[in-house]
Amino acid sequence: MAPVPSFPIKVGHIDDVQELRKTEPTQIPQRFVRDMSERPKLAAMVPSPNDIPIIDLSKLVGSDRDEQGRQIVQLKTACEEWGFFQVVNHGIDSSVVENIEEVAKDFFMLPLEEKQKYPMAPGTVQGYGQAFVFSENQKLDWCNMFALGVEPPCIRNPELWPSKPAHFGETLEVYSREIRQLCKNLLRYIAVSLGLKKGDVFEEMFGEAVQAVRMNYYPSCSRPDLVLGLSPHSDGSAITVLQQGKGSSVGLQILKEGKWVSVQPIPNALVINIGDTIEVLTNGRYKSVEHRAVTHKEKDRLSIVTFYAPSYEVELGPMAELVDKKNPCRYKRYNHGDYSKHYVTNKLQGKRTLEFAKIEPETSA
Ligand code: OGA
Ligand code: NI
Repeated sequence: MAPVPSFPIKVGHIDDVQELRKTEPTQIPQRFVRDMSERPKLAAMVPSPNDIPIIDLSKLVGSDRDEQGRQIVQLKTACEEWGFFQVVNHGIDSSVVENIEEVAKDFFMLPLEEKQKYPMAPGTVQGYGQAFVFSENQKLDWCNMFALGVEPPCIRNPELWPSKPAHFGETLEVYSREIRQLCKNLLRYIAVSLGLKKGDVFEEMFGEAVQAVRMNYYPSCSRPDLVLGLSPHSDGSAITVLQQGKGSSVGLQILKEGKWVSVQPIPNALVINIGDTIEVLTNGRYKSVEHRAVTHKEKDRLSIVTFYAPSYEVELGPMAELVDKKNPCRYKRYNHGDYSKHYVTNKLQGKRTLEFAKIEPETSA
């Protein structure tokens, strides 16, 4: 997954957030305290009636054509206007969902020395630690992460697959297989919702798709108004599948019309979002929306996030069917491996990484 950066980086001391919390600091260390403009407004965390769309997968795959048509329309609206939706009745067995949550939680509960056997080297994104930190003065997220490349096998780093808790590897394999199939199905319906003739257009284009998982553990924070669980960003994937821990508090927020909207957890639902790759392929019709995570004063929160993306060899650009006079081409063609490298060697900064793919607006002479 992450190539080791070719430039030297000095990140300074990075506190482990779970350990930090144990010390019950009376003040949040400065490196976690956000500048005024970035601090979350707690008012934004109250439930918003204008919640993100819900897609019922059982109706999409079902035999009722009318119902299917309605879900496709909803999917299209969700992708155009929100870039996010929650999938219910996704067909993944509840034991699979529960097991991954359990091993993830058990991993984060291990003593620090055990977790540090799988360190995330500075500037890389696999292993245990904090990703996307590139300098000593960069603000830190109130989060511990554990990330692994899963598919294709060549992106795996077996040394980072933990031996504890027991069955971690098998559980992740089973989970990832199910999520991979869900991604393939969703991409097929996304193609239909775009009016593309071939349902398997993305599967064909992507080659042997890259799949990575990141488990995010957000300890509670005595001053959730000062910190961010995860900095604002868009995902570099084609699509992302996010599972929130059972009984999870609100934490994920998405930027909608300039306001941060909280995603209300729905039991057994999975949160799906459009990543940068689909934004480029659809020439901006489907949006890769900026999002972030906030923390909670009393509750910890766990999320298990799968990134599904094309093979690194693939050349990408807006699809010809989605470019015309009214929708001129907005992104250049590029190699997806180059884009991934660009993504993982820059800090999370809103939608800044997608600038990589943008066609410079013509400057009139
Ligand atoms: C991510 C992400 C949000 C969350 O890992 O890319 O957006 O709620 N996570 O954990
Ligand atoms: Ni994300």
